[in-house]
Amino acid sequence: MVSDPVQGREACAKEWWRDAVVYNIYPRSWRDANGDGHGDLPGIIERLDHLEWLGVDAVWLNPIMPSPNRDWGYDIADYTAVHPDFGTMADLDELVEAAGRRGIRLVLDLVPSHTSDEHPWFRAARSDRRSPYREYYVWRPPGIGGAPPNNWISYFGESAWTLDEQSEEYYLHSFLPEQPKLNWWSARVAEEFERVLRFWFDRGVGGMRIDALQTLVHNPELTANPPASERDTSLERRLGQRFLHSGGQPETHHFVRDWRRTADAYEPTRLLFGETWVSSVDDLSPYYGDGHDALGLAWNLPFLSSDFAAISLRAVVERTMSVLPSAAWPAWAMSTHDGEGRAATRWCQGDPAATRCALLLLLTLRGTPILYYGDEIGMTDATSQPASVRRDTAETAAPRDRSRAPMRWEPGPAAGFTSSARPWLPAPAAGVPTVAEQRADRDSVLWFCRDLIMLRRRHPELMAGAMRFVPAPEGVLAWERGDSGRGGVVVAVNLGDAPAAVGLGPLTKGQILLGTDRRRDGQTLLGDTSLDPREGLLIRTV
Ligand code: NOJ
Repeated sequence: MVSDPVQGREACAKEWWRDAVVYNIYPRSWRDANGDGHGDLPGIIERLDHLEWLGVDAVWLNPIMPSPNRDWGYDIADYTAVHPDFGTMADLDELVEAAGRRGIRLVLDLVPSHTSDEHPWFRAARSDRRSPYREYYVWRPPGIGGAPPNNWISYFGESAWTLDEQSEEYYLHSFLPEQPKLNWWSARVAEEFERVLRFWFDRGVGGMRIDALQTLVHNPELTANPPASERDTSLERRLGQRFLHSGGQPETHHFVRDWRRTADAYEPTRLLFGETWVSSVDDLSPYYGDGHDALGLAWNLPFLSSDFAAISLRAVVERTMSVLPSAAWPAWAMSTHDGEGRAATRWCQGDPAATRCALLLLLTLRGTPILYYGDEIGMTDATSQPASVRRDTAETAAPRDRSRAPMRWEPGPAAGFTSSARPWLPAPAAGVPTVAEQRADRDSVLWFCRDLIMLRRRHPELMAGAMRFVPAPEGVLAWERGDSGRGGVVVAVNLGDAPAAVGLGPLTKGQILLGTDRRRDGQTLLGDTSLDPREGLLIRTV
């Protein structure tokens, strides 16, 4: 086992992610070092300076394991290797070490719910009904007239069952047919993943983002899923079915607790960050266990999917704070490689002032902020390509390629992402100013984001402090961090379309630490102030 790769830092902070800013890299699109048009691990090593300068504490990489890429890495064919497009295991070790020297931990993406159909386990399983690997997957004979075993549908809208001609049985898949579902009712599957976790943790990897946790355990009775109702995710409503029995079984939490015991056997403990794709924050609670014995962080889809309006955001944040176990720690993300896309487009329509407000929100709520690459420069979604040239072929509500476009580093061909004339996804010819341009402009979104992260470090109440919303005029969201009445930090953001007078009494008495309009930095406030539409302030109260 290697010791903690993060040097110069108290490794004792047991749950280190509580103070962390996490930065999510879609590795194929961040930086291509070898000029083949695909981002890679050496490219990430080359640009670690950017992450260190920005002040992030952990980097989560979308999957880097070998995969035939039917679902761009989320169909894994070998859980303990690196896809050659991204480099080698030596590159991975170097990245862990080089990031560690900068105080940055590496978090990988683990996909335990399904494998690729090219994984040796599945090949063996389908080749022979008596194979010891048969039980790793979910098989059922055809129903009457050759029908699938039940009504379950996949997240991509087709039947969740595909007939395997070779062995004449149906197998289950929650996503593409090329992503056969693993059978977590087999003890051997759990043992395999125990080994996988240890393999990466032993290399100094700081944790795992765990894909599609809500699909991990299915109901073995194969009870039919009911129709979707108003309380379900937009996806379930669109597909007309609630995924009640095809996943989400209570046994899931038993496995998460086992993984947590494994993670806690390391020093420092490893992060388990679950993708918990649920429609209501109420359903997140069980994934956290008692707050310390299950997931460290859980993906908050209702927050990400909220409107960018004070009333909606307040409702989802307040609900999250009230329903999670008191010891649990929320995670907040506003952009994703999936269909919801980037906040700079979805929430802010490309308006840099609104993007600053979104960053101010994300980085000052109580919990761990997850930046998606490009959030720090206000990167917007790329324009959608015609279906014939799309790289992502999955049937999703919105094309996912648009939020996976190459990072915008510097002016010039492919915005500095690659020297290849053929990036794997087109680098938009124009768009938000690049990293280099924004570094040269003290008034840029990038500097705003960086200054905010530095302020988090200087004001511990922004990380660990209590949080409570305070009354504010319509359209304005305002909250306090720190122990009430003892002087803390107040954030006020006007997400409405009209200017707002904000009189919060003692809460607007103090000094502006940071304004989305940077000319207000350092101003003294005497008890009330006003905010333009899409203007926000971070105030140190007296
Ligand atoms: C969730 C991932 O974020 C998505 O990109 C993927 O298609 C599915 N899980 C299946 O692994």
